[in-house]
Amino acid sequence: MRKQTLDDLAPGTLKGKRVFVRVDYNVPVENGRVTDDTRIRASLPTLKHLVENGAALVLASHLGRPKAKWKPEFSLAPVADRLRELIDAPVSFVPDILGEQAQAAVAALKPGEILLLENVRFQAEEEANDPAFSAALARYGDLYVDDAFGTAHRAHATTEGVARVMKEAGKPAVAGYLIEKELRFLGQALSDPQRPFAAILGGAKISGKIDVIEKLLPQVDHLLIGGAMANTFFKAMGLETGKSLVEDDKIEMARGLLARAGTKLVLPVDCIVAAEATAGVATQVVERAAIPSDLAVYDVGPKSVAVFADILRGSRTILWNGPVGMFEVAAFASGTRSLADALAEAAAGGAVAVVGGGDTAAAVEEAGLAGRMTHVSTGGGASLEFLEGRVLPGVDVLDDAEVAA
Ligand code: 3PG
Repeated sequence: MRKQTLDDLAPGTLKGKRVFVRVDYNVPVENGRVTDDTRIRASLPTLKHLVENGAALVLASHLGRPKAKWKPEFSLAPVADRLRELIDAPVSFVPDILGEQAQAAVAALKPGEILLLENVRFQAEEEANDPAFSAALARYGDLYVDDAFGTAHRAHATTEGVARVMKEAGKPAVAGYLIEKELRFLGQALSDPQRPFAAILGGAKISGKIDVIEKLLPQVDHLLIGGAMANTFFKAMGLETGKSLVEDDKIEMARGLLARAGTKLVLPVDCIVAAEATAGVATQVVERAAIPSDLAVYDVGPKSVAVFADILRGSRTILWNGPVGMFEVAAFASGTRSLADALAEAAAGGAVAVVGGGDTAAAVEEAGLAGRMTHVSTGGGASLEFLEGRVLPGVDVLDDAEVAA
């Protein structure tokens, strides 16, 4: 069911109101500076809309996994510094969540101002989705806006509990523009793709991707598999896999998938092999039927890239989740890099090219091609769970579009 978004709110709803906004500012921080601000920039359309319509904003986010301890290295203070540089509105930060300092800062907030609370995971009640904690935080806002797509698969206090309390009190709980955009692109690929529809799945393990494979197989015209996951399929085909990562307990599953998928499932035809995945190591390109017993596969080979790129060139919708090689090591980055190029080219030709978050987004970003994709998700685990067809608690809790706010 479609969820209400900011655009469903009646005109004037935001004026003079205090809005509790859950964002996902779980971003890399080094030496007190944000090193990748993609998620902060992705929240700007929502924040600007709220500010421009006369609301005061209380922002909540987590950063990392501090395990309910107040650790300075997990503070959101550097994120507030970066947000201040990106938005034309006063941004303040409190090193507090529910204490006197935070209460006072929230009470003093004026329309058009933004206050970022400290990392909500500093308190155990956040991940426990504690009702009292949620109720206390809910008092900070007249309405709830969720723009934390990356954390929408977690039923935590600020992603789920606060929204529920607000709804029970008759206050609106709606999706921000980022969540709305993520659901539109990922959802459209699943429910109404322009055809031909190709999905590329990479990554290390079939076990982590099996639900996505099962969900996508009936929908797609082509399912391209890369990454170490392909090795388990090779073994299921009776090929030598050398020292490559193989999930022995998933070989039967891979055999079953090969039989069911037929020509839809496309595996690499050649591979880049080496003794280990370290910089400067000697590499070789081999056919998939000639993997040496003393070496391991770390990337797809050039013939595979050509086969994959050819399929992508003829596709109208492309969904990509998971690098096809160990792209963190330069010697094994060419497969992933070439695929990113192929997606960018397809998008330029009018295809819908959607990239899952996490590692895949990082690879596309590193290749400098993120801006050429139709959509790059800000959610790693969240986009995967969405593609598996699972309910995201952070989205599910929001007001249904049919129920007027
Ligand atoms: C992410 O980066 O995937 C999200 O921010 C969620 O973080 P988590 O996996 O620690 O819940």
